[in-house]
Amino acid sequence: MNRQHTLIALGMTVALVCLAGCEKPRPVSVQRGFRGTGMEVLYNRPKLDALYAKNQLPEVQSPASPDGPRAGDVYQNVQVLKDLSAGELARVMLAITQWVAPPDQSCNYCHQGDMASDALYTKVVARRMLQMTRDINTNWKSHVANTGVTCYTCHHGQQVPAQAWFIDPGPPPVHGIVADRGGKNVPAAIVGLSSLPFDPLSPFLLEANDIREQGTTAAAGSNRHSIKQAEWTYGLMVYMSNSLGVNCTYCHNTRAFGDWASSPPTRVTAWYGIRMSRALNNTYMLPLTHTLPADQRGPTGDVGKVGCGTCHRGAYKPLFGQSMLADYPELAGPRVPPSPEMAPAPVDARAATGEVAGMKSVHDSSPATMVAGKPL
Ligand code: HEC
Ligand code: HEC
Ligand code: HEC
Ligand code: HEC
Repeated sequence: MNRQHTLIALGMTVALVCLAGCEKPRPVSVQRGFRGTGMEVLYNRPKLDALYAKNQLPEVQSPASPDGPRAGDVYQNVQVLKDLSAGELARVMLAITQWVAPPDQSCNYCHQGDMASDALYTKVVARRMLQMTRDINTNWKSHVANTGVTCYTCHHGQQVPAQAWFIDPGPPPVHGIVADRGGKNVPAAIVGLSSLPFDPLSPFLLEANDIREQGTTAAAGSNRHSIKQAEWTYGLMVYMSNSLGVNCTYCHNTRAFGDWASSPPTRVTAWYGIRMSRALNNTYMLPLTHTLPADQRGPTGDVGKVGCGTCHRGAYKPLFGQSMLADYPELAGPRVPPSPEMAPAPVDARAATGEVAGMKSVHDSSPATMVAGKPL
């Protein structure tokens, strides 16, 4: 062998070793649909265990009596939690300090001197967050069920949730033939380092663009959806899959991505999740843009926004389905006006979950069976 051959052989050996090391140990597969349809979700057991360990619930404050005068009467400037007892208000304050404030700042993170003052932006934002949390738990049961959320679901002890999303302006413009990237063709982490659009969220989780790329009839030319629309749809789908730590078959029978009747019920939950994220961003997050100081905003000056990953953080259900609401009834609501009426999911979608009477689903509607920590 001459030197060149040796180099090639060496290169190939290195490549083989690298490839063999891709996924170790072998992933565990969980069947999610009919046998033979390939509807399996793959898990890497050690990674799943590590994620599960990071998703344990924080210490719970001892309960407060709901009796006695209302916080709205006792205090000067309680606008959201006014229905709570004074003891319950104090308990929520302790909890949000633990969930959101930096350890060295404690109550001072939102209060300085006069507790009733709204001088700190953090307090103003926190008040909207209290409203948002109650809104989610009251009006979005179609998505969060009775599991619900607390500040901890998104914040995990940090001031800014690790997976809040900001609009990505993309790389600086270049000159020449690739000057117009068309919002894509950059290996962006949010779309799994593919060349799909690097901001796949704004069109769907802020604006209400159609998430479609398939035609509904076989007739040639009947599909009016553009390639661009397909790319944006796939970008969102990659983000959703990564946010939940699942692959496409968690929500689709890949024989027909668009067909509701052969999709698992999780797809309907996801449908509501898209509408919920969009509503939260428009109702709560965007109006906070100028409340936040400039250094807390994104590269285009936008506010951090809510997406699937903000709550899910890589788990098929946030905190692997553990609910904190039983321990924090103060945050369950229902003390805000209901969100504007939303059209229900498509009828055939709801039929798939048995939500529409008389149209029975062919699917087992039991939730995922692969809770980490239990044998798969
Ligand atoms: C993450 C921000 C945040 C932290 C941390 C926080 N608070 Fe608050 N606090 C608020 C908000 C927001 C309100 C107003 C709630 C409302 O309008 O319903 C409030 C209201 C209060 C009030 C009522 C004041 C009045 O007269 O109107 C008291 C008392 C209070 N907090 C005490 C505390 C204590 C004690 C701590 C620390 C254990 C604490 N807070 C930590 C955000 C915070
Ligand atoms: C967590 C559930 C979920 C996962 C995971 C998921 N999808 Fe989707 N997908 C949906 C929902 C919900 C819709 C419909 C959205 C709507 O109508 O608002 C959809 C729509 C689509 C469509 C459009 C179908 C049409 O009617 O034109 C395609 C294509 C698609 N998904 C592909 C994928 C691919 C590829 C993956 C994996 C990379 C994936 N999806 C992962 C839930 C999911
Ligand atoms: C659904 C997810 C979610 C929930 C639930 C949630 N937050 Fe937030 N929170 C966010 C996002 C997203 C931001 C924006 C981050 C940014 O742009 O700085 C934020 C920002 C904040 C900030 C400002 C941080 C900064 O300095 O930028 C405070 C304070 C805060 N939240 C408190 C709370 C409190 C208290 C609760 C519970 C009552 C709560 N949040 C519940 C998602 C959430
Ligand atoms: C405000 C927090 C929050 C956001 C944002 C959110 N989810 Fe969820 N999601 C939850 C909670 C809580 C549950 C658990 C509900 C339950 O126990 O049945 C859940 C459950 C689900 C499930 C059902 C899982 C199963 O196995 O039954 C799917 C699928 C899902 N979410 C997809 C999404 C997608 C896709 C998005 C983004 C478009 C999203 N979620 C955004 C909180 C959230």
